[in-house]
Amino acid sequence: MRQRSILAVMVLTFMLCAQIAGAEADREKLLKEPGIYATFAVFKVGDEWWKLDRDARTKAVAEAKSVFQKYSEQMTIDTYLLRGLSEKADFFLRIHSKEMSHNQNVLIDFMGTTFGKALKNTDTFNGITKALNYVPSFPEELKTELKTPPPPSSPYVLVVPIRKDAEWWMMPHDPRAALMKEHTDATVAYLKTVKRKLYHSSGLDDLDFITYFETAKLDDFNNLVIGLLKVKENRHNKRFGDPLLLGTIRSLDEILEVFSR
Ligand code: HEM
Repeated sequence: MRQRSILAVMVLTFMLCAQIAGAEADREKLLKEPGIYATFAVFKVGDEWWKLDRDARTKAVAEAKSVFQKYSEQMTIDTYLLRGLSEKADFFLRIHSKEMSHNQNVLIDFMGTTFGKALKNTDTFNGITKALNYVPSFPEELKTELKTPPPPSSPYVLVVPIRKDAEWWMMPHDPRAALMKEHTDATVAYLKTVKRKLYHSSGLDDLDFITYFETAKLDDFNNLVIGLLKVKENRHNKRFGDPLLLGTIRSLDEILEVFSR
């Protein structure tokens, strides 16, 4: 009898581990593959929220958490705290899934919760991940440098929406690739301290790119951007930021705890 229950515990543990491993594998895929839809949804907590008593706020954030849990197998949802570093917004979500409608569904459900109803959605950016456009034509040495592993984990996040001018899009591929090589040459010194991800937004939003960064060294990020403002490709940036988001990478529990205090 005892042996049977030990066996049952072992089977259950194995099933749980397999499930967790499966979920992680999916996250890896969603964060790495091209053709994944991303939505960045930025929120400000309204004044009404703070008028609720603490118990009501705790209950409401638990309701919001259950919405995210419901969708966790379809998508990845990363959470970031802006409060204290921005007067315009308090936190944002970065959602990745295989269908833009999945991103929409989770956000509709979230906005329908008591917590969601107390929020103002200050910005939303939509984009898609794609295969590299210019790197394949770069010299081998630069391609090797680009393989430098990024920092494994970082406290800070930065998101910079970018819109290019018409001249950029009308330029033939080769001169554009030459300008992107100049862009890349200005960035290689920061590969060890800045992790990056690029989303393409043309036609999906009023933007062309959502650029996303994680770092522990905001001084490096500041110098990286100053370096990029000096290269010719920058002349084609019609919009750079506006808003630029600077926040800290926090778990969903940490974010919800801040707003249930
Ligand atoms: C460590 C820092 C960075 C590195 C190594 C880097 C490298 C690159 C590379 C290699 C590409 C070409 C990708 C391709 O082949 O399709 C690229 C594209 C791009 N980067 Fe950066 N970059 C960095 C930082 C930044 C920053 C700080 C910004 C602006 C805030 C930025 C904006 C862009 C944009 C908008 C594109 C897309 C351009 C296009 O496809 O027309 N990058 N970057």
